[in-house]
Amino acid sequence: MTVHIGAQPGQIAETVLMPGDPLRAEWAANTFLDNPVCVNRVRGMLGFTGTWQGHPVTIHGSGMGMPSLSIYANELIREYGAKTLIRIGSAGAMQDKVKLRDVILAMTASSLSTPSVGIFRELNFAPCADFELLNAAVASAKAMGAIYHVGGIYSADVFYDERPDLNEIMTRHGILGVEMEAAELYNLAARHGVRALAVLTVSDHLLRHEALPSEDRQSSFGDMVQIALEAAFA
Ligand code: HPA
Repeated sequence: MTVHIGAQPGQIAETVLMPGDPLRAEWAANTFLDNPVCVNRVRGMLGFTGTWQGHPVTIHGSGMGMPSLSIYANELIREYGAKTLIRIGSAGAMQDKVKLRDVILAMTASSLSTPSVGIFRELNFAPCADFELLNAAVASAKAMGAIYHVGGIYSADVFYDERPDLNEIMTRHGILGVEMEAAELYNLAARHGVRALAVLTVSDHLLRHEALPSEDRQSSFGDMVQIALEAAFA
């Protein structure tokens, strides 16, 4: 057990999928895994371990924002030996060509700051996805006929952003979408020599001011889980 995860040693798989929402973790585990067992409920942050096509997999919530993700990813990597961590979550689109329900495979994650700022300080470290995982996710998205985009995303610190100029700068630099977790996941993966990727579904559009109705969110979420699992074991 760690401070925030109640799992016993050996109850966390080397491959961990991380949705922001703990109830999504429960839904994904019940939908995609064989014999899912709840291995964490501390603070309501649910984690489940089961198997997918015979491979052990844990699906564990990250919470919202990089400080929360950082707590869980640190403990999963450092205490439980997680080796492949894939964020599955939603993003707001920042380009016209990116539409609601499209999948974004995040090659890089820009940010204003991350919980790693204490280490990097004046350095502009470039958090990026694991190439093998990214490549395999592209193959999986293609095979499933998903509409997908590969490129940079923006990991914001603030959902209710009072500085729209930052979003505009990101759009002008080709950033595909905004979410709130991937940059720190990529930082931690680099630091600890493990693999990370963020597979995102577009849930809202910052330029068109559109949002997915809630009943559509579950089905597009399922495509992401499938892509993440296929990429992890390609
Ligand atoms: N901003 C930040 N995070 C998000 C958004 C957004 O618009 N949509 C989904 N995650």
